[in-house]
Amino acid sequence: CVCLCGFFSEPCSWYSCRWYNTPNLPTKDRLRPRARLHSVINAINVNHEFDLLDVWFHELGDMMDVFIICESNFTASGKPHPLKFQEMLLNGTYDYIKHKILYVFLDHFPSGRGQDGWIADDYLRTFLTHNGLERIPNVQDDNVFIIDDADEIPARDGVLFLKLFDGWTKPFTFHMRKSLYGFFWKQPSSLEVVLGYTVGMLRSIYDTDGIKLRRQEYYIMPNFRQYENRTGHILVQWSLGSPLHFAGWHCSWCFRPEGIYYKLISAQNGDFPRWGDYEEKRDLNYIRGLIRTGGWFDGTVQEYPPADPKEHMYAPKYLMSNMARYHYLL
Ligand SMILES: *[C@@H]1O[C@H](CO)[C@@H](O)[C@H](O)[C@H]1NC(C)=O
Ligand SMILES: *[C@@H]1O[C@H](CO)[C@@H](O)[C@H](O)[C@H]1NC(C)=O
Ligand SMILES: *[C@@H]1O[C@H](CO)[C@@H](O)[C@H](O)[C@H]1NC(C)=O
Repeated sequence: CVCLCGFFSEPCSWYSCRWYNTPNLPTKDRLRPRARLHSVINAINVNHEFDLLDVWFHELGDMMDVFIICESNFTASGKPHPLKFQEMLLNGTYDYIKHKILYVFLDHFPSGRGQDGWIADDYLRTFLTHNGLERIPNVQDDNVFIIDDADEIPARDGVLFLKLFDGWTKPFTFHMRKSLYGFFWKQPSSLEVVLGYTVGMLRSIYDTDGIKLRRQEYYIMPNFRQYENRTGHILVQWSLGSPLHFAGWHCSWCFRPEGIYYKLISAQNGDFPRWGDYEEKRDLNYIRGLIRTGGWFDGTVQEYPPADPKEHMYAPKYLMSNMARYHYLL
């Protein structure tokens, strides 16, 4: 049969040439549509990215089976952090998606975090996966597990592809369009983010620890070969999208000026220079200037003109169809 325009492959269900042309999936021939969709578990750590979280819930709400959302009452630098997400969860803000949300509360700050901020960052992911997964009944080895920061949003059709098919290799990454302060300051190339694998792989190879995935070291993990042997799955990293065809969005520092201020003062003790330590960099008017010019805290400016909102993959659809509300990001 002849596939409709825009649809590819034997079952006509690769509905975007973006995946079809992605040359780096080594097992293309093995792709088979599943009889039952893959369940997807999505773990996100949230600080104050509430508008981007709206995008997750509206754009990907029907793709994900569970959202594990982790919130801590400590900032990454160990100061008190208000439990805003919990408050909104209880006051009705998320009633439309509440049945899919598993709330994980991180109530402590591990020793050593104050000195090395990266410990804080890693620990959050470890806690999020351990605590979240063990509370979900009937988790199956073939469930897809995606772990991500709130500001790295995979494209809907990429996630749908993972749900529909068997035969792709693991772990998988997404090439994301990069932008700063909003979607208007587009940055060159793409950010390739390692997002996921299956629960079976997470358990067998990574000790159910989400941070081990982000380090991209699966091939030196001790159980790697045994897992391949036992399951017959080939473990080779592959990516959805490419530096030219984005499969998601990484929006850095995408807040109103007050949100950027908050991010500055709560930043971990590790990502140096820590701009929040300089009084003049915390000034709201200075921050407004950065947003306007696309500049960075070190004094450099954006070399490219603002992106055109008509560009394909400019921003997630949900934002584009709510222009008035999210104007500051668009
Ligand atoms: C976070 O919550 C825990 C448990 O309720 C509490 O012991 C701790 O003091 C809180 N931390 C902050 C910074 O509020
Ligand atoms: C819920 O709490 C959030 C955060 O404090 C607030 O912005 C929102 O207006 C509240 N919604 C309702 C329905 O009270
Ligand atoms: C994989 O299986 C083969 C055959 O069953 C066996 O010879 C080999 O030692 C196994 N390799 C590992 C790493 O377990």
